[in-house]
Amino acid sequence: MGYDKNWAKVDASTLPDMKVPAPGPKSAELHNRAEKHMKGYSSQVKLFPVAFESGHGVTLTDVDGNTYIDFSSGIYVTNLGHGHPKVVEYIQKYTKQLMNCHDFTTEIKTLFLEKLASVTPGNLNGIQMYCAGTEAVEAALRAARAKTEKYEFFSFYGDFHGKTLSAVSLTEVANYTSGPRATGSHMAPNGNCYRCHFDKKYPECGLFCVDALEKQIMMEGTGNVAAVLLEPIQGWGGSVVYPDDYLPKIRKMCDKLGILMIVDEVLTCCARTGKMFCVENYDVVPDIMTLGKGLANGFPCTAFAIKEEYTEVLEKISASTSYGGNPMASAAGLASLEVIEEENIVERSAKLGDFIMKRLNKMKDGHKIIGEVRGKGCLLGMELVKDKETKEPFIEAGNKVYQKAFAKGVAWIPANQNLRMSPPLIMEEDLATKGLDIIEEAISDVEKEYGY
Ligand SMILES: Cc1ncc(COP(=O)(O)O)c(C=O)c1O
Repeated sequence: MGYDKNWAKVDASTLPDMKVPAPGPKSAELHNRAEKHMKGYSSQVKLFPVAFESGHGVTLTDVDGNTYIDFSSGIYVTNLGHGHPKVVEYIQKYTKQLMNCHDFTTEIKTLFLEKLASVTPGNLNGIQMYCAGTEAVEAALRAARAKTEKYEFFSFYGDFHGKTLSAVSLTEVANYTSGPRATGSHMAPNGNCYRCHFDKKYPECGLFCVDALEKQIMMEGTGNVAAVLLEPIQGWGGSVVYPDDYLPKIRKMCDKLGILMIVDEVLTCCARTGKMFCVENYDVVPDIMTLGKGLANGFPCTAFAIKEEYTEVLEKISASTSYGGNPMASAAGLASLEVIEEENIVERSAKLGDFIMKRLNKMKDGHKIIGEVRGKGCLLGMELVKDKETKEPFIEAGNKVYQKAFAKGVAWIPANQNLRMSPPLIMEEDLATKGLDIIEEAISDVEKEYGY
């Protein structure tokens, strides 16, 4: 299909375009009506209850006519921009031709499976498809249980893997379970060097945290450990990037102990971190990898990929779901993978990420409340603190900076003292600069408010 490659180009000087104070009256009216029925919104909605009407490329427009610079991508989802013409065309074709036929084979599903298998690292080419990230994680855990005939899992403080019972039991915010974690779920200290759980300093520590993990698996596990599950970079946990040798050391430990390594790439996959898959930043091939979010640029489509030699277990866990791998999802997934290749999205993500990171580092030097900035590719974040020495988390400032920048026209993502940025990977540097200027203004405003 031919489409205008400049379809998402914007004149950065005209953005953002805030026509009324946001969230405006139409947003408030709609949100209040919806909220009567739906409770349990995320903090990003509670702190800024805007109602959106449309998205185009790198911008979002609310129901009051305000247009924002998108620094969220629908929470790491619309990596190729809102309404990418190729993705839209592929989905539209299958809404007319064939929406669903359970798990029967279709040509579009076959093409998508082949394309995905051709880009996954190593021999991760046993694939099953689902609709939500949590479902893919859940299925990956089932596959690990089937392969090892064991049922214990270790995950990490700060990790988020979804809200179905097994996934949420391996997530830090496990209060969603309203009760105990699922049997066999264990949580271990992660390798967050800014807030080391062992009060050590990298690299002198020699990644003591991985040695401690090994000990914990031996002492706390009951001999039934199937796998370690981890996010290669933590999203919800605050864009936490580990040292380069962290994942390789966990890979080695898993091999030594004879347990599987499951890497949850739901958030990091598909060019977000400047590589097609985040594990490629570290030269690690996991035994199982979960995929979602950017996999189909917004159409619900997730998957896990398992090493070819383990595919015999897939029969045991059954691939069929009502919607997994449906023709529309497969079409969206195939189109997205093709666009990533055709438009050099991996390289663009790395370049834009480097550009933003340079500016974030400058901001950190110029502001007392920015404790750390971090990221890889276009998965970026900053942590606000009351004092750079004590590193006391500055949650109130995090919430205020989020709200102020949003009101000025940057749609982005909060997580307590952590502010997260995830622009579409097709954003141009001039627009990113506009967004960063607004964020910096909001930080200065809040610093003044608190007397810094
Ligand atoms: C790393 C990771 N895994 C799993 C999930 C769950 O995905 P979903 O919300 O599609 O169920 C998320 C969602 O944010 C995530 O970030």
